[in-house]
Amino acid sequence: MTTAEPAAGNGEFDLGGLLAERGAERYELHARYLNHQLPRMLHTIGFDKVYERAEGAYFWDADGQDHLDMLAGFGVMGLGRHHPVVRKALHDVLDAQLADLTRFDCQPLPGLLAERLLAHSPHLDRVFFGNSGTEAVETALKFARYATGRPRVLYCDHAFHGLTTGSLSVNGESGFRDGFAPLLPDTAVPLGDLDALARELRKGDVAALIVEPIQGKGVHEAPPGYLRAAQELLHGHKALLILDEVQTGLGRTGDFYAYQHEEGVEPDLVCVAKALSGGYVPVGATLGKEWIFKKVYSSMDRVLVHSASFGSNAQAMAAGLAVLSVMENEEIVANARATGELLKSRLAALVDTYELLSEVRGRGLMIGIEFGRPRSLKLRGRWTMLQAARKGLFAQMVVVPLLQRHRILTQVSGDHLEVIKLIPPLIIGEREVDRFVAAFTEVMDDAHSGGGLMWDFGRTLVKQAVANR
Ligand SMILES: Cc1ncc(COP(=O)(O)O)c(C=O)c1O
Repeated sequence: MTTAEPAAGNGEFDLGGLLAERGAERYELHARYLNHQLPRMLHTIGFDKVYERAEGAYFWDADGQDHLDMLAGFGVMGLGRHHPVVRKALHDVLDAQLADLTRFDCQPLPGLLAERLLAHSPHLDRVFFGNSGTEAVETALKFARYATGRPRVLYCDHAFHGLTTGSLSVNGESGFRDGFAPLLPDTAVPLGDLDALARELRKGDVAALIVEPIQGKGVHEAPPGYLRAAQELLHGHKALLILDEVQTGLGRTGDFYAYQHEEGVEPDLVCVAKALSGGYVPVGATLGKEWIFKKVYSSMDRVLVHSASFGSNAQAMAAGLAVLSVMENEEIVANARATGELLKSRLAALVDTYELLSEVRGRGLMIGIEFGRPRSLKLRGRWTMLQAARKGLFAQMVVVPLLQRHRILTQVSGDHLEVIKLIPPLIIGEREVDRFVAAFTEVMDDAHSGGGLMWDFGRTLVKQAVANR
């Protein structure tokens, strides 16, 4: 018997028994067999907790203490954890024992999910289902290049579209790209800079521009009017607009898609993933215009020219259908908008109180809290010490006590950024807003008092940053 075999007898697989027997080894197993830097990082910042159960916007540790989730598994848990409607759909689809993935028939669930998804973007006609956000982006890049017959894709500085090689080619951060060259032919343009876009388009080899309507890194929104003007420019040069709604889609920003915030934006291709999974079954969807799909799948010979073995699987489709149903029945988009406005306005009201807090931005439940250089001499010295060691340490200093002392999970919004990003489940309400604002206020009070544990921890972070150079 190898160490990985389950404990149960009779040759049966006993998941509960396996977890009971080996669950305590979780950090060691990860360090031994997976990316060893994750447990290392978690131990360093004291995030090496043992969570035992989860529901909605909360998870609980072994002592029964609740933790508020303001990260939603990087946006995957749009409906929170273990939504009963999604769970039931998954139980039902397993019990139905469908003849799934025969590959040579047409199952009903993919068509039904496509129909339901497309109802939210009436100018789009067809869907390709893959298995992740990056695969949705890969599909869009391939379709745009094939449909236009051109090689080059433009993207925005600081963009994030996933980490497989095609998506990496349109990533706006050298930290992710370095060492993986050569990538696809690509060129970055600043988000919002129409002149730069026009300059590139005049070269005649551009297939598409890919944009996140609100960038995940730093929570930067495309300036008003940019998406529509970019679309006109692109179409004038027979190039396409791809919108990456992997994070912003499905209600996150207070509209079903973030691009719908502005009139007249009609992207040629839209990438969706994360929340469509219900937090359970990986899925990606690339929505597009009829002519693009017709061109890619132009003959029977090309029927499998772009496909994925697990694409359209019944569990993913059932989860997606259940998610869309919950979104309508529970008015998830309206809740994201209203709760997002409440949270943002209460946080924005603190900017005048705390000199280390410089801006609160974003839309719906995608909120960025940016810290900046304080005015007072005492705090400025400390801030400068942190900045000299590594940008982003102050935001880390805030994220840590939010979890350690207040049991709220958040994240720094990208490397070297003094920004915390809040992307909680879209089901949160006033109770969670109150809890977050109270905790954040306490952490800010601590930071501005200039002493205590928080700045001690800051000094530890500085030492580590210097040691890591
Ligand atoms: C905007 C955007 N696009 C693409 C991706 C990649 O998605 P996945 O991690 O499912 O590959 C992400 C993931 O964070 C994202 O935020």
